[in-house]
Amino acid sequence: MKITITGSLGNISKPLAQKLIAAGHQVTIVSSNADKAAAIEALGATPAIGSVEDVDFLTKAFTGADAVYTMVPPNMVANSWKKYIAGIGHNYAIAIKNAGIKRVVNLSSIGGHLAEGAGPISGMHFVEVEFNELEGVAVRHLRPGFFYTNFLHNVDMVKNMGIIGANYKPDSVISMVYPNDIADAAADALQSDFTGKSLYYIISSVHTSTEVAAILGTAIGKPNLPWVEFKDEDVVAAMEQNGASHDVAVNYAEMGAVIKSEKINEDYNKSAHVIKGKTSLEAFAKDFAKAF
Ligand SMILES: NC(=O)c1ccc[n+]([C@@H]2O[C@H](COP(=O)([O-])OP(=O)(O)OC[C@H]3O[C@@H](n4cnc5c(N)ncnc54)[C@H](OP(=O)(O)O)[C@@H]3O)[C@@H](O)[C@H]2O)c1
Repeated sequence: MKITITGSLGNISKPLAQKLIAAGHQVTIVSSNADKAAAIEALGATPAIGSVEDVDFLTKAFTGADAVYTMVPPNMVANSWKKYIAGIGHNYAIAIKNAGIKRVVNLSSIGGHLAEGAGPISGMHFVEVEFNELEGVAVRHLRPGFFYTNFLHNVDMVKNMGIIGANYKPDSVISMVYPNDIADAAADALQSDFTGKSLYYIISSVHTSTEVAAILGTAIGKPNLPWVEFKDEDVVAAMEQNGASHDVAVNYAEMGAVIKSEKINEDYNKSAHVIKGKTSLEAFAKDFAKAF
């Protein structure tokens, strides 16, 4: 099959491409950076260099593909992040129609049922809604949990302050996933003959914040690493200090609030469509220890 993958050599897209190439498919990888072309070719894929903000480019990158994998890349400087995400989804929908694509695997998120109040996840909700209106196109949405790899951003906090935390509680329940487990599920879906519109959760493990702190802490010799709950405004200030736009920072805090309230887990907890990822948090903790 000919398959076009967005997301460059990112956390999911690189292992996804590797799996598809190993299975004998012709893979095209979308990247916004011409410097990645050589690494993409070295994997055995064809680079398509351009931006997901450009519908004509996307149409060209999708044309001739039997299936596409869509994801909306993070944009830390968006002025209106939810609108930006929905807008990239709209670009994809137009390109899918223009290119006559019949099978789409779309990366969404746990919490994708929340049309508002869930930060960037509410943007992904509208991408799901628009894709579900595509006539004659089989669409499978994948709703992964919170990526284990997000905790790599906490390494400096753990090192310098001896704590780990966010704006959710020590006993908040976090449904999580290892990106490679998402790549497995996406590869399976892209190669299967599904029809209609469907959605699947992908969850590798579920732990409270305090359990996360203990598992990651144990891997670095700090088994009593405390989980500290931050105020929303502290999260906003820290994100802005790290270069995020005000709107992106506010949306991050909003996402933390739905993790805290556990509204993010509501639909997942009721769903019969769950793919269990094989990677435990303890296994990821070894990567965390290496980064530490
Ligand atoms: N983090 C979480 O907990 C979580 C949970 C649920 C869902 N998600 C979803 O997962 C996504 C991240 O997936 P990931 O970790 O696999 O991706 P990733 O590692 O962040 O990589 C995304 C890649 O997209 C490329 N890109 C950025 N802007 C682009 C543009 N304008 N046009 C074309 N390509 C562009 C970049 O590569 P180049 O520089 O080569 O272009 C970037 O490395 C999030 O955006 C979100 O939608 C995340």
